[in-house]
Amino acid sequence: MIEVEFYDVVEKRRSIRKYINKPIPEDTIKKVLNAARLAPSWANKQCWRFVVVSDPELRLKLGEVMKNNPNKSCYEDAPIDIVICARREDSGIHDGKEYFMFDVGLAMENLVLAAAQEGLGTCIIGWFDGAPIKKLLGIPEQYEVVAVTPLGYPAETPNARLRKPLDEIVFYNGFNER
Ligand SMILES: Cc1cc2nc3c(=O)[nH]c(=O)nc-3n(C[C@H](O)[C@H](O)[C@H](O)COP(=O)(O)O)c2cc1C
Repeated sequence: MIEVEFYDVVEKRRSIRKYINKPIPEDTIKKVLNAARLAPSWANKQCWRFVVVSDPELRLKLGEVMKNNPNKSCYEDAPIDIVICARREDSGIHDGKEYFMFDVGLAMENLVLAAAQEGLGTCIIGWFDGAPIKKLLGIPEQYEVVAVTPLGYPAETPNARLRKPLDEIVFYNGFNER
């Protein structure tokens, strides 16, 4: 039963770019953030930090500094935005690969799935200039803003976007082996 619910939520999650301006109960926001908190990370370092932006004036300013994103409208009508940032040195670097992005991605995936489970929409935004966001929210210099998502009740039900079929992306016992 639990399995069915999990796969259901994975299937029904969408990037939501239109929201209704309805407040989210505080405990629901906490549940969603807690799901992010429980994500795995490099050596359990939990490098992520979450800035919840709920103040309407601050949200408008955030929208303003993110205005170059083509889907700007999605953070204007949601009740809150969540800004995820991390210090790269708080995670691991191995073989030239910096794992802070990976860690933050895992936390973000937990967050968006938990949100979908709660009937909430999200839209991971990666296209922005981090510097003005850091300034606006007082995020310390050493942190990188990795992503922003609005969180709110969806005002649209977009169709699923196409995914590559398994037989294009999965190999067995060697790359290109079927
Ligand atoms: C790392 C990352 C960055 C993204 N950046 C943006 C963005 O800047 N603007 C946007 O509208 N969507 C952004 N998206 C959302 C993707 O476009 C979306 O996940 C993808 O098209 C699949 O659609 P779906 O999430 O509805 O399944 C981003 C997603 C990821 C994972």
